[in-house]
Amino acid sequence: MERHLRSIDELSAEDVTTILDTAEVFRAAGPRRKYPTLRGKTVCNLFFESSTRTRLSFELAAKRLSADVLNFASGGSSVDKGESLKDTAQTIEAMGVDAIVLRHEASGAPWRLAGWVDAKILNAGDGMHEHPSQALLDLFTMRRHHGRLEGLKVAMVGDIRHSRVAGSLIRALRLVGADPVLVAPRTLLPPSVATFDVPVEYDIEQVLPKVDVCYLLRMQLERMHGGFVPSLREYSSLYGLDASRASTMPEASLIMHPGPMNRGVEIDGSAAELPRTVITEQVTNGINIRMALLYLMLGGKDASGEEALDG
Ligand code: CP
Repeated sequence: MERHLRSIDELSAEDVTTILDTAEVFRAAGPRRKYPTLRGKTVCNLFFESSTRTRLSFELAAKRLSADVLNFASGGSSVDKGESLKDTAQTIEAMGVDAIVLRHEASGAPWRLAGWVDAKILNAGDGMHEHPSQALLDLFTMRRHHGRLEGLKVAMVGDIRHSRVAGSLIRALRLVGADPVLVAPRTLLPPSVATFDVPVEYDIEQVLPKVDVCYLLRMQLERMHGGFVPSLREYSSLYGLDASRASTMPEASLIMHPGPMNRGVEIDGSAAELPRTVITEQVTNGINIRMALLYLMLGGKDASGEEALDG
């Protein structure tokens, strides 16, 4: 693996397999198992945007590996007094941190940060660009259910344009040989969609009967400056998933969503509660993936590193 994890492009297909296999070792050991591997290391969660799942699961992952954890949220910090990202990061590094988990509203912020500090950088979401640990936990969840990733048909539905989750997941699916298809109104596709080299469909009802996974994306209302859809009600009627539409999906297929959900917009309550909906399982798997990342980047060697994993 590269020194940092800022983009899925920094991983090879072999790296992805190693990360997923290592997460599988942690998952099999169960949530009560604690490891001494990162004793003496410090991980800082540096969050300039709100988060529930990513921040808490990185914190839990670091603690299960016995690292010390610093949690920084920009609200209530000296950022309110005008301190820059560079000064904030260098202040935190002066306290002796080994890894910084960064969420920031600016695309590219993890690359800037890596130029200012020696700590390893894990991108926890940069603007509308990437969210690589989310993509890895999604691959892990798909592989656990389908037993493979190669050839898996994954429909990514909704606000591709503003989604860093989509940015990473499209790259990750292509890296492992899966078959992503984008389903969205034209206004919710990025102008650069052709660079993904992925098929685009506009009718969700044509796509659903053929998928292994229907991956719904949150409408990123906070990033929309303009009318991207006539109304949320119309968007929901054309692209939203409810139990009736979900009933046309193949028997073994999954419904996934990175969270947080806009219930009644991209997903109806009736679809969110179906047995094939694995949204809370994605959250659980996120802890194991983030343990694997911290273990591989800060302490361990590979998925069979029994010595380091013992304890
Ligand atoms: N999926 C995700 O990134 O959720 P949070 O914003 O709650 O971290």
